[in-house]
Amino acid sequence: MSLMLGRDVFGNEANKGNVLSKEEAHNLLNDWVKNSRLQLHMKQVAALMHAWAKEKENLNDADVWRWELAGLLHDADWDQWPEAHCKKIIEELERRNIDPEIIHAIASHGHLHFGVVPQTKMDKMLYAFDELSGLIHAYSLMRPNGYEGMDIKGVKKRLKEKSFAANVSREDINDACERAGIALDDLIAFIIPVQSKIE
Ligand SMILES: [Fe+2]
Ligand SMILES: [Fe+2]
Repeated sequence: MSLMLGRDVFGNEANKGNVLSKEEAHNLLNDWVKNSRLQLHMKQVAALMHAWAKEKENLNDADVWRWELAGLLHDADWDQWPEAHCKKIIEELERRNIDPEIIHAIASHGHLHFGVVPQTKMDKMLYAFDELSGLIHAYSLMRPNGYEGMDIKGVKKRLKEKSFAANVSREDINDACERAGIALDDLIAFIIPVQSKIE
């Protein structure tokens, strides 16, 4: 099964700045994603994108929401249409005239699978957070106190154990850190406190 998108231009430049409202975004999430674990993953990645845009990129509220929206919807079609993962949500956002940068970020969240190379900072951070966020959450579930007291060393140990959260691609994580120009330790240190607040 190939998820390759076969193109790398998405949306329309004329729609720059167009977003879904918070309500529209959450309606789409609830309509499309019935799996609560997947919903949580999407909310966690959204929170990470929000925090990074605000704290590290110093973006304004409108831009912070564009980053958050890309995180919130990146896996919207995975639950019901895994064979059309990425393609379906891209087409939906194109139909709704959403900002092309948001659509491109979603299209490049796994370039080894979808064939779209991350280009902008938004693209690169979504790609960088996606798999690592999942692994850190899986780690929190096996710890008696969840996120409390979790440190970088513990996360790196789990990363080295290939059998732990085996579906999380270590290849993607290393590739993503390189592309974003961020050290793995720094990314882990950023994710833990942000993610611990999202339930
Ligand atoms: Fe995905
Ligand atoms: Fe994801």
